[in-house]
Amino acid sequence: MGFSILFLFLLSSAFHINLSSSEVADDFRKSCDTSNGNFTANSTYEANLNRLFSQLSSDQDFNHGFYNMSVGQSPDQVNAIALCRGDQQEDVCRSCLNDTIYALQQHCPYNKEAIGWSELCTLRYSTRKISGVLETDPFTGMWGIGNRSAPRDDNDFDRALSFLLKNLSVEAAARGPLSKFAAGLTASSQIIYAMVQCTPDLSQQSCSACLAKASGDRMKSYCYGRTACRVLQPSCFLRYENNLFLDDYTANITMVPFSPPANLFRCSVTLQYID
Ligand SMILES: *[C@@H]1O[C@H](CO)[C@@H](O)[C@H](O)[C@H]1NC(C)=O
Ligand SMILES: *[C@@H]1O[C@H](CO)[C@@H](O)[C@H](O)[C@H]1NC(C)=O
Ligand SMILES: *[C@@H]1O[C@H](CO)[C@@H](O)[C@H](O)[C@H]1NC(C)=O
Ligand SMILES: *[C@@H]1O[C@H](CO)[C@@H](O)[C@H](O)[C@H]1NC(C)=O
Ligand SMILES: *[C@@H]1O[C@H](CO)[C@@H](O)[C@H](O)[C@H]1NC(C)=O
Ligand SMILES: *[C@@H]1O[C@H](CO)[C@@H](O)[C@H](O)[C@H]1NC(C)=O
Ligand SMILES: *[C@@H]1O[C@H](CO)[C@@H](O)[C@H](O)[C@H]1NC(C)=O
Repeated sequence: MGFSILFLFLLSSAFHINLSSSEVADDFRKSCDTSNGNFTANSTYEANLNRLFSQLSSDQDFNHGFYNMSVGQSPDQVNAIALCRGDQQEDVCRSCLNDTIYALQQHCPYNKEAIGWSELCTLRYSTRKISGVLETDPFTGMWGIGNRSAPRDDNDFDRALSFLLKNLSVEAAARGPLSKFAAGLTASSQIIYAMVQCTPDLSQQSCSACLAKASGDRMKSYCYGRTACRVLQPSCFLRYENNLFLDDYTANITMVPFSPPANLFRCSVTLQYID
């Protein structure tokens, strides 16, 4: 048994060394959909997409960083949703969208449907109606950004993290149609900062469902054992780190003190009472 623990220790040390040497420099992620059709050069679809890009770049309404647009007529209609991270100001948002448009043009040049996830904004477009529709696929995750070598107590960290994410998910989903964003921090063996955000065209139920998926099986598969991680889905995103990655002036970071689940508390009170 001692031997296998030593082995696990060596294995995890080797893993960490390996991770540190492969720093993720570019945190842009994309999904170019190849099943919903491609367009050709000089097609009506291309013209509509370019019109949409230029409208998005020149849109004068900030609207809390949410853009819901539609250009052209079916079957060449392009529908788009763009969303900046909830704590970002207009100038940063605009330049992020501009960069994301450029990145998608490079990476998905002829796909009718695509998603680009940048650190501070997300852009999606499709021939389908996407406004108000909950979509959790395709998805991706990202870890290894931030301080990965910090030691952590798994149980403490995981319980505090899931407590924090649950709180933020309820808060974000309950917010109005302008912005469904919530940011907070909690402390276990270390401080954890987190944010969750849904595209604000979603209903409260859809936003909750989206975040539940992100913080459930998707977080397990991408983030287990990580002190910094992101889960990116079309309709919602979450991110946590033990570094302050949010803009602390605009994010309204709520301190969420970790407290054990209420049923444990009730149980101990009852025992005391019987005693
Ligand atoms: C679209 O183009 C990609 C290559 O860029 C190709 O793999 C895919 O099969 C095409 N999809 C359709 C529906 O033609
Ligand atoms: C698209 O239009 C440009 C400019 O009119 C032309 O140079 C190019 O050959 C056209 N491409 C295709 C595939 O038709
Ligand atoms: C938008 O992106 C293009 C290409 O990356 C760049 O040349 C241009 O300066 C950007 N404009 C703004 C306002 O950021
Ligand atoms: C990463 O963690 C180490 C050890 O806890 C600490 O010395 C270092 O300052 C941290 N770096 C950052 C960027 O937080
Ligand atoms: C988004 O745009 C579509 C098409 O223009 C419209 O039907 C829908 O009501 C808009 N949704 C929001 C939340 O603005
Ligand atoms: C933070 O709170 C202020 C005041 O209530 C509000 O105007 C602002 O929109 C909030 N910011 C975010 C990102 O929720
Ligand atoms: C989240 O935590 C804050 C701070 O403790 C609290 O005021 C708020 O009611 C909590 N929200 C939920 C939905 O638990």
